[in-house]
Amino acid sequence: MNADARGIVLMVRDRQDDAGNIMRLRLASADGMPLPQFAAGAHIDVQVPGEESAVWRQYSLCSDPADTEQYEIGILKDPSSRGGSIALHERVRVGTMLTAEGPRNHFPLDETAEHTLLFGGGIGITPMLSMAKRLHALGSEFTLHYCTRTAAGTAFRADLETAPFSRHVRLHHDDGPQEQRLDLARDLPPPDGATHIYVCGPSGFMDWVISCAEACGYPPATIHREYFSAKIDSSGDSFEVEARESGVTVTVGPKDTIARALARVGVKIPVKCEEGVCGTCLTSVLQGIPDHRDKFLTDEERETNEDICTCCSRAIGARLVLDV
Ligand code: FES
Repeated sequence: MNADARGIVLMVRDRQDDAGNIMRLRLASADGMPLPQFAAGAHIDVQVPGEESAVWRQYSLCSDPADTEQYEIGILKDPSSRGGSIALHERVRVGTMLTAEGPRNHFPLDETAEHTLLFGGGIGITPMLSMAKRLHALGSEFTLHYCTRTAAGTAFRADLETAPFSRHVRLHHDDGPQEQRLDLARDLPPPDGATHIYVCGPSGFMDWVISCAEACGYPPATIHREYFSAKIDSSGDSFEVEARESGVTVTVGPKDTIARALARVGVKIPVKCEEGVCGTCLTSVLQGIPDHRDKFLTDEERETNEDICTCCSRAIGARLVLDV
């Protein structure tokens, strides 16, 4: 099972360098036609221009899902990242044409929830913005908690303070007074079965919110998460992988990955993030038990062992058979 690929060419209509090293881009279709519709929580894959080989990065759409005239994305310039976002900051101007795929949605909003809590940390605010716009349009009950290091470094701040849903927004800054910081003992109500939680941001922030929600007794199905990046250890013991449809078997060495080992014998599995967060490399498992190392699959999906992220996950045991 590989993610659907739908190519689009997007023209940069506007660039705004916002606070917190976040570049905001408004993107329109190059041919002036309406853009593909998306649901809140969706992202697009953007190819970084000017690279010798294809480098793709995923960016959540933060615009209103009802708007098919333009998409908005926010890109953090992060010196500790692998470089794609920095290159985009340096190379993108108004009028730049970007190759993209999507939209895809691995972080869908349950619009039937009676109450929704959105937790965005730093750049993790971006999917929350489209969710907040959608929830406001539906007239739903929700609260958006947005955590940043400093008030001065808070992107999208003016938009949130003037948004028609501003009464639903709580801003939390690490440099603010104690009572203004996110306090999950105060800000996370007891679970009632009808409240859903959405979390996106740095791994430490996400793990903290998720572990608190779990400790409070929120059912797993009501805790939704999307990782933008992850530090994945994809090393381990060697094992064999049979690509059943292709009729080949390869050995995946201790520092190798399934996707790389198969690519060497001509079995190409699409790969984008290479760190287990985007789901592009997801492949069906026919036999064997995966050792899931990704951050993409939910706990319930892991337990079925039906799919594996081949860019980082391995095998429990000596052999896997995949449907490729
Ligand atoms: S390429 Fe993104 S999860 Fe494997």
